[in-house]
Amino acid sequence: MKIGIDQMSFFSPHLYIEMSDLAQARGEDPNKYLIGIGQTRQAVIPPTQDAVTMGANAAAPLMTDELRQTLDLVIFATESGIDQSKSGAAYLQRLLGIQKYARTIELKQACYSGTYGLMQARDYVAVHPDRKVLVVASDVARYGLKTSGEVTQGGGAVAMLVSADPQILTLENDSQFMTDDVMDFWRPNYATEARVDGKYSSNVYQEFFKELWDRYRKQTGRTIDDFDALVFHLPYTKMGKKGLQMVLPEADELQQKELLAQFEASQKYSRQIGNLYTGSLYLSLLSLLNETPGLKPGARLGLFSYGSGAEGEFYSGILQPKYHAGLVSNQVPDLLSRRQGLSIAQYEQIFEQTLQGSADRELEIKNDPAQFVLAGLKNERRQYLKQH
Ligand code: CAA
Repeated sequence: MKIGIDQMSFFSPHLYIEMSDLAQARGEDPNKYLIGIGQTRQAVIPPTQDAVTMGANAAAPLMTDELRQTLDLVIFATESGIDQSKSGAAYLQRLLGIQKYARTIELKQACYSGTYGLMQARDYVAVHPDRKVLVVASDVARYGLKTSGEVTQGGGAVAMLVSADPQILTLENDSQFMTDDVMDFWRPNYATEARVDGKYSSNVYQEFFKELWDRYRKQTGRTIDDFDALVFHLPYTKMGKKGLQMVLPEADELQQKELLAQFEASQKYSRQIGNLYTGSLYLSLLSLLNETPGLKPGARLGLFSYGSGAEGEFYSGILQPKYHAGLVSNQVPDLLSRRQGLSIAQYEQIFEQTLQGSADRELEIKNDPAQFVLAGLKNERRQYLKQH
């Protein structure tokens, strides 16, 4: 039975900053950010958005009445959880109007858990072929003002429906995965910003990719010739390019050109948005699917998922004939064109306003055009609203 990604949808808030402005404010050469890191713009997350609202906003376009009545598994992958106990997926179930006889669960392993969610969904559908599973990967990438990680912030969510006979991508049963307990990036319970050993994290990412790629080739007998595109987790676009360059010498000249062109297409959206943590790999996939006109059904795509701490997975999927039907038409370009640019001073003010602590507080929601918003905190309870 073919199982995989049937539909995909994306959300990121309506605000952004230019990386050239950030470089200027931080006394850096803009080319370090634009070329050295490979980021042009960065999403700014207003206090009225969090991992739950962004997840709901991403999933909303996929919801139909039939789905609301039949969905019985909602998997929420995040490392920006808003509660130490209650799952963000329980909020999603209510906000999206999903029937109550459903399992709802939150997963955590840094940027990796979206991939685990996808694989769990595939296994569930293998046992229950008539069901669909909603997988939502949503995060706020937050390192802190004036830190070296600041240029790699961002945020947003990708929602995916997993089913039998999927419209977009079948998941091949060929995953290679590994774990190593390392401290390259983490966020203690008391912190709202990530701690990171930046250079070390980039090295571990590359080591994981190489080891899993070699293991994949050994276990499956496939070579780079079998792949039409490689898609990467993109904490910043240069990181994925470094991964690709590790395996390019295995391809002939023509294929090298093709893989580089596909990579360019896959990093287009991340370059404008920044890191999405759990959703980043799947935003790269969306970017590849939308921005590469010549992708042929039947193409084998290789996907590399990496979550600090660290866990990685490399697997492949086969592009399906009607893959465009599973995407929300023009969604990301529309969203990007409607965003509002901020000055660095405005961004810094917003960055400090993120809802924290337990004090009652009302948030100004009128400037946030999103369907789902966080309206404040009352009696230590988050107040989520559907605006339209
Ligand atoms: N023009 C062009 N390029 C320039 C330049 C200029 N004027 N100035 C510098 N550069 C280049 C540098 O040569 C370097 O390129 P290479 O990596 O190819 O050598 C690049 O710009 C970055 O320069 P630095 O290494 O000096 O940058 P930095 O010390 O400020 O830190 C960083 C960069 C480590 C990525 C930092 O932003 C960071 O810690 N980010 C967060 C951690 C992260 O994203 N890690 C990725 C792996 S972990 C992961 O994947 C999980 C996750 O999502 C977090």
